Amino acid sequence: MKIGNINIERPLFLAPMEGVTDLPFRVICKRMGAGLVYTEFIASEALIRNVKRSLDKMSMLDEERPVSVQIFGDKIDSMIESAKICEDTGADIVDINFGCWVKKVVNNNAGAAFLKEPERLADMAEKVAQSINVPLTVKTRIGWDKNSIKILKVTELLNDTKVAAFAVHCRTREQGMMGDADWSWLPRVKEIAKMPVILNGDILTPKDVKRAFEETGCDAVMVARGAIGNPFIFKNSVKLLDTGILQEEPTAEERIETCLEHLRLTIEYKGFPRGLHEFRKHYSGYLKGLYNNSTVRQQVVVMESYEEVELRLKEYVEELTQELQLA
Ligand SMILES: Cc1cc2nc3c(=O)[nH]c(=O)nc-3n(C[C@H](O)[C@H](O)[C@H](O)COP(=O)(O)O)c2cc1C
Repeated sequence: MKIGNINIERPLFLAPMEGVTDLPFRVICKRMGAGLVYTEFIASEALIRNVKRSLDKMSMLDEERPVSVQIFGDKIDSMIESAKICEDTGADIVDINFGCWVKKVVNNNAGAAFLKEPERLADMAEKVAQSINVPLTVKTRIGWDKNSIKILKVTELLNDTKVAAFAVHCRTREQGMMGDADWSWLPRVKEIAKMPVILNGDILTPKDVKRAFEETGCDAVMVARGAIGNPFIFKNSVKLLDTGILQEEPTAEERIETCLEHLRLTIEYKGFPRGLHEFRKHYSGYLKGLYNNSTVRQQVVVMESYEEVELRLKEYVEELTQELQLA
């Protein structure tokens, strides 16, 4: 598929996630088959003030391209300026966050607050899109609450802008991250949209990926929580879509190999010991479901060198293999 002039090999996207979709995780998901990866969201005001942490969120490797850099804010001038910074820094696509539900963001009239005023949303999107040369996309929700579903109105308004594609998280702002995503709006959006539509919300397994395409006619799917500790969802979804063969779970060996690859990347890009320490939150995801995993997790989270972690995790794979042979 294409977003603007950008070719995207597979319609399987890694969603933007603050605190999760940093460079190492994006690279891992890309290697697993994600077609497009998004950065964590970046406050436009921080970006234009050169805040280091915000600038760091934009660093990327060629192998993860295309990369979409997501920004948020309520002021048109700052959003235009920050979109230009993203473009100059190498973003392949710039994305505007019109879906963030957290109070701090909506109280500043940003994120999902735009859903209260679809015209303001479309105006912001158009002005930013017109000011950059790379494609501009947006990510939004179906509405503010169940009594004000605005996604069809938003679609009509976006049709008249230069926006190249948009993602719909099929929950309302009121739902936050709770309750079920309502995919039933997607076919109606698709009927009127003049650009690619990306479905987001509750895509947690390869089966969900397949069902999302079949039930909604969406052009691409965007996976968020389903990829945390489970970048294998991309690989297994590619396999299911291409061959019809369903493999929901990775093997223990594959989990450990990927965990170590992710850890090496994190140390490489964040430095030592920061990378090793920041990575500790990922062990539980990679070890999930494996026999006696809590003991191993408790051991590796206190280790102070990569070599120690590697040795212990490789031993653990051996232990699991012996366990299987005895069973
Ligand atoms: C830890 C976390 C951080 C998130 N950060 C962002 C973000 O920076 N920008 C954004 O547009 N959405 C963010 N989201 C929302 C996700 O992109 C996605 O819309 C939401 O999780 C629904 O998809 P899911 O049901 O597949 O998890 C975040 C979600 C999680 C769980």
